[in-house]
Amino acid sequence: MSNKGNNLIKFPELDKSIKHQSMLAIAILAAGKGTRMKSSIPKVLQPLGGKTLLQRVLETCLILKPEKCFLIVGHKSDKVMQSLPNENDLLSFVIQKPQNGTGHAVQQLIPYLADFKGDLLVLNGDVPLLKSETIQKLIKKHKDSNCDVTFLTSLLTNPKGYGRVFSESNGKVNEIIEDKDCNETQLKNKLTNAGIYCFKWNKLVKVLEKLSSNNKQNEIYLTDSISQLESACHLEAEQEEVMGINDKIQLAQCEKALQARICNYWMSEGVTITNPESCSISEDANFGQDVIIEPQTHIRGKCDIGNGCVLGPGSLIKDSIIGKNSSVTLSVLNNCEIKDFVSIGPFANIRPHSKISENCRIGNFVEVKQSTINKNTKINHLSYIGDSSLGKNVNIGAGTITANFDGFNKHKTVIGDHTKTGANSVLVAPIDIGSKVTIAGGSTITKDVPSGSLALERSKQHIKLGWTNSKEAN
Ligand code: UD1
Ligand code: CA
Repeated sequence: MSNKGNNLIKFPELDKSIKHQSMLAIAILAAGKGTRMKSSIPKVLQPLGGKTLLQRVLETCLILKPEKCFLIVGHKSDKVMQSLPNENDLLSFVIQKPQNGTGHAVQQLIPYLADFKGDLLVLNGDVPLLKSETIQKLIKKHKDSNCDVTFLTSLLTNPKGYGRVFSESNGKVNEIIEDKDCNETQLKNKLTNAGIYCFKWNKLVKVLEKLSSNNKQNEIYLTDSISQLESACHLEAEQEEVMGINDKIQLAQCEKALQARICNYWMSEGVTITNPESCSISEDANFGQDVIIEPQTHIRGKCDIGNGCVLGPGSLIKDSIIGKNSSVTLSVLNNCEIKDFVSIGPFANIRPHSKISENCRIGNFVEVKQSTINKNTKINHLSYIGDSSLGKNVNIGAGTITANFDGFNKHKTVIGDHTKTGANSVLVAPIDIGSKVTIAGGSTITKDVPSGSLALERSKQHIKLGWTNSKEAN
């Protein structure tokens, strides 16, 4: 099974080659409300590919092993802080109240960085697709150029909403003018500010205090510091990486870009994705060789999919492990383990903590919950198997139900090897059914059945000969 993809597309583990950077502090701006989202959830907590925007920004920059990482919070700060496990002391929360703009946000750091002599990397919390390699390039350029600030820019096809960057032919930047403050000619400039900056802190701190809010939004802009510093340089980055998210349209555009990144990676590793645009794949999924992902299939959370599996069409697979050469058609799998050569679906629902062994067949309208199913067992149609343990070569007839709930508690069903249940059997748990047992169709089984026996529980069939004719005679 391949796991080569991880370092390229998901958050890399802390890179051991990068040493702790005692001269680097990081500030992530996450205090804004995100008015344009029109949501009760703060913008930085909006989900993108199964993670919040903030989680993505944080994981991308923590890899740099800074001396300190500040998270500026304000709007619904409790929620934002609770969303992050502060496992190490690296992260410090700084409250910005009220939220008077990005420059005002960075001003909050002044008391915390009084003696700091290094660089401050500032990241907008709503730019989630940025790669850590790009931040590293930015820091390198900042050191090489010795500018007071070096920040990321991009030439955008649609620059609407972004601050425009005005630079000279030698690359030195004169100023950033916010979209709302630009005149018509300035708006034509497509070189935009990405909101990712590396400042010499001792230079920035002098300028920060002087920033005014004399602009259309009456906010203190961090971008105004650029023209006030002695030297400002920029590094151009890929358009896709610096997409900022202000509304649900941009959120969807970013999701699309992220999915293209993930699907392209896996296709380059030999996975067939017949219609990538209709699928979504989590960064925590791994695929073996010759896996085929059919349209409308969604792989979420941590999944490990073995060689030769065919997933979809129309399936949702979450936090699951699938062995080799298994297939899942129009079905839902959640937190389960499927071995080799298993066929699932169409229309099966495999719920958490289910384990299905080699060569099993789970057919249409079958629900399996918290059950272990041994090799070669078939549950082909219309069944519910819950809290059960099934042996090898069991054949579950259509409509067999394990009645596991007595209204108060859940109970277990155990079925031995080579047992067959007839259609519409109800197995009332707790119950132990031996091996090589036959359960007659339509039986409601309430008592344990010893191995090798036939269990039959249904009323006798009565036949009244000539019934129709005698009625018609009246
Ligand atoms: C900002 C930049 C713009 C750039 C764009 C890139 C400014 C003035 N403008 O604009 O030049 O092109 O990002 O995406 O910086 N925030 C706070 N406190 C505040 C205000 C904002 O922490 O008082 C945070 C927000 O939560 C957000 C980030 O700062 O994560 C950016 O704020 P936002 O309002 O989205 O700025 P933009 O208008 O996108
Ligand atoms: Ca923004």
